[in-house]
Amino acid sequence: MSGLETTRPVALVTGGGGDIGRAIALRLARMSSAVALVDIDEAAARATAGLVEAAGCKAMAVRADVSSALETAAYVEAVEDRLGPIGIFANNAGIEGVVAPLHEYPDEMFDRLFQVNVKGVFLGLKHVLARMLPRGRGAIVNTASTSAIRGRAGIAGYVASKHAVLGLTRTAALEVTGKGIRVNAILPGPIESRMIRELDEQARRRSSGARRAGSAPYGKPENIADVVAFLASDEAAHVNGAAWVVDAGMTVA
Ligand SMILES: NC(=O)c1ccc[n+]([C@@H]2O[C@H](COP(=O)([O-])OP(=O)(O)OC[C@H]3O[C@@H](n4cnc5c(N)ncnc54)[C@H](O)[C@@H]3O)[C@@H](O)[C@H]2O)c1
Repeated sequence: MSGLETTRPVALVTGGGGDIGRAIALRLARMSSAVALVDIDEAAARATAGLVEAAGCKAMAVRADVSSALETAAYVEAVEDRLGPIGIFANNAGIEGVVAPLHEYPDEMFDRLFQVNVKGVFLGLKHVLARMLPRGRGAIVNTASTSAIRGRAGIAGYVASKHAVLGLTRTAALEVTGKGIRVNAILPGPIESRMIRELDEQARRRSSGARRAGSAPYGKPENIADVVAFLASDEAAHVNGAAWVVDAGMTVA
């Protein structure tokens, strides 16, 4: 291993095959010795790995369902075995569910949202923290949403799941404070992405128009990636337990 590789951390990004995960991976590639991409969509994870390698950083793609305890333990172990200790963890995989008023919201979709968005984040925290704590070093950024601090008509399951991500972030942050590890949440507003196109299309079909409150422009995945990189860096050494909103001011309107 070269000197550079020992000083730069290994980064792990779940949902690394998606729009925001891909941008985070490419941004972290500039400050990491290697970037691992975990996604339930193996082809998507591999595609991002190819882009990371093309940008000059070592990459590894792992197929895993983040809502599975077994698969989470396995992806964390596989990444550390192959790349070394995880120093940066972007706990980012998530699903949007469907657009429907609460009184019609499908029970099974509510459960699935909690399986992926909440249990997935919990399991990632659990298994990565178990390895970071003895080393006394690491930075974790959970992807929540502005839906973690606001209600939003039509997406009850998603909103509830993202509120829970904030609860996990704050609790984990308190448990690691003073131990060389930081856990923060990033709260993106609407971002130009497959996920927002899907939600907008469903809202349009229901003609609820509920999804887009306010007039702030949609952000780009890179806007999120830049802030994740900051939160993961030593420049954010005193930032722990934060709910970092990146929404061009939408939530202060
Ligand atoms: N797009 C937005 O406007 C927006 C706004 C706020 C928050 N977010 C959050 O950002 C994160 C990334 O979203 P995105 O916009 O890139 O969406 P996306 O759908 O492009 O990416 C999500 C990725 O997660 C993967 N994934 C889904 N379920 C999984 C599972 N069980 N196990 C492993 N991987 C799984 C998908 O295959 C996909 O590659 C999500 O947590 C989302 O809730 C997105």
